[in-house]
Amino acid sequence: MNSAIKTLFQHQHGFIISQIMFTASELGVFDLLKSAKLLNAKTIAERLGTSPTGMEKLLDACVGFKFLRVERKENEGLYGNTDLADLCLAKSSPKSQYHFMKLHSEYIYENMHYLLNAVREGKNQSELIHGISANHIFDVLSRSEEDLQRFSTAMDDAWSLHGREVMSAFDLSNFPLVCDVGGAGGTLAKECISLYPKSTVTILDLPKVVERAKKRFVSSEECRIAFQEGDFFKDPVPEADLYILSRVLYDWDDETCAQLLTKLHKACRPGGGVLISETILSEDRTGPLEAHLYSMMVMVFTEGKVRTASEYNGLLSAAGFKDIQVKKRSIYDAILGRK
Ligand SMILES: C[S@@+](CC[C@H](N)C(=O)[O-])C[C@H]1O[C@@H](n2cnc3c(N)ncnc32)[C@H](O)[C@@H]1O
Repeated sequence: MNSAIKTLFQHQHGFIISQIMFTASELGVFDLLKSAKLLNAKTIAERLGTSPTGMEKLLDACVGFKFLRVERKENEGLYGNTDLADLCLAKSSPKSQYHFMKLHSEYIYENMHYLLNAVREGKNQSELIHGISANHIFDVLSRSEEDLQRFSTAMDDAWSLHGREVMSAFDLSNFPLVCDVGGAGGTLAKECISLYPKSTVTILDLPKVVERAKKRFVSSEECRIAFQEGDFFKDPVPEADLYILSRVLYDWDDETCAQLLTKLHKACRPGGGVLISETILSEDRTGPLEAHLYSMMVMVFTEGKVRTASEYNGLLSAAGFKDIQVKKRSIYDAILGRK
């Protein structure tokens, strides 16, 4: 019982943990310690322009949550990064999760209090949050250059960390022509071309998203990554051997997913397939916890839902895909269906 009560207390304060992590990342603590190794609180505060007392408390909390480590020498604490901080919390790390944290801190957190309404009403709270219906949520997320940047960089962060394990869950080398449907900033597409030297990828996304993504590509990637602006419900989708749908279906209800999957099945070359990447709910719906977190989030913001492997199986089969295989991965799982 004691440990359950401790867990209760930690969950009650869970949002403070994410604020500790985000604040230290935003201030640049993890970047400073990545290059400077061990420093005392006073020096860190001076270099980052904060109060020494505030910084010391923040650093101690980061040690408590294992974002940092501390060595005590002659009554003084010397703080250094943990491996996790070097890899994911320093903004300068290629696998940094800073933008993902920022999206959660500035947008998801403040709107999650609508969960109560969402459960009561059984529908998303898009109208209350944005003043418009859920169909246009992506217009909202890209309303200004700043909003689009925040959303796209957050999406990319996840794939810089998890992209490789998802793209290597199945051998995709026999699918040379790939279309990443709702491919956003293209980080997963980059992972695809680096793993599969014969593949080229077309990123299909809404015009504003594509316009921004294009600017971020260097010329060496350009010849193997193409872009197509369009609405995947209304406009034709390019012919491909493989369609990637990563974190797309959880935004839509079953009927809309069926419509999109059927359209992809028609456009798919013979012998081709579709690769879905989502966090899959276990068949008994008890976990994993990441799936429950996404389930609550999509309930507040979208018309979609988090699904079990059998539910994805059902959607894919109804659209005509067969030989459906599922591979569980650390956070985002992979499902492959063949035409
Ligand atoms: C949750 S994001 C996922 C992005 C990306 N696949 C990933 O996993 O990082 C959903 C993406 O679908 C795009 N999208 C939503 N509705 C769309 C539509 N009707 N046509 C084309 N793209 C759309 C959004 O712009 C966004 O980039």
